[in-house]
Amino acid sequence: MNTDKLHVIDHPLVAHKLTILRDKETATKDFRELVSEIGMLLTYEATRDLPLTEKEVETPICTTMAPTLKGKKFAVVPILRAGLGLVDGVLRMVPSARVGHIGLYRNEETLEPVKYFCKMPKDIAERDVLIVDPMLATGGSAAAAIGFMKEYGCTNIKLMVLLAAPEGVERVQQEHPDVEIFCGSLDSHLNENGYIVPGLGDAGDRIFGTK
Ligand code: PRP
Ligand code: URA
Repeated sequence: MNTDKLHVIDHPLVAHKLTILRDKETATKDFRELVSEIGMLLTYEATRDLPLTEKEVETPICTTMAPTLKGKKFAVVPILRAGLGLVDGVLRMVPSARVGHIGLYRNEETLEPVKYFCKMPKDIAERDVLIVDPMLATGGSAAAAIGFMKEYGCTNIKLMVLLAAPEGVERVQQEHPDVEIFCGSLDSHLNENGYIVPGLGDAGDRIFGTK
């Protein structure tokens, strides 16, 4: 595992909110709100290297030069469905971001991803891309999504997840060593059904209340 490219966000607010998410008694409404809030906190770290420039601003006291985002083009790309739960948090931090969508589901027997939808902003190749999904389990979905973004011509791609399994991190890093991964927790392992342990269960079902 290349720990230089893996950022486990070590922050008490993230840790606290993740614990509530893991609790099987947490209701859908609270679960959804927490996913969005943690998404916001992780975005703070995942955007740490956004370039700045300076502009003149007149404060009530004087005129000064002050930092402002350089306006580099940025896109958030959720992996449907569960990734949708993170979009709102990213957009609250980066309101000018465009949104692309990739629809993937895991074949429950092979655990391999199947693509069913893809819609990107026209100029996606020129944008820095943040792929978001709550779960990085086997890594199949994330590795495929990163591959699709590279086919579109994207060269600066990051992956942001709430929980990662070591198996998923290794797969993504093997197939896409250039991609930085941001996660709220690096969990223990995958179980025989491909679920993250201790994890939080099925993220999509818990966000959308489909079970
Ligand atoms: C979940 C999750 C990831 C994927 C992770 O989605 O949101 O996309 O599984 O697993 P992997 O790392 O082994 O590929 P799922 O396929 O359950 O679809 P959903 O978002 O529609 O619920
Ligand atoms: N997808 C989920 O939603 N949860 C897991 O633990 C693994 C994959």
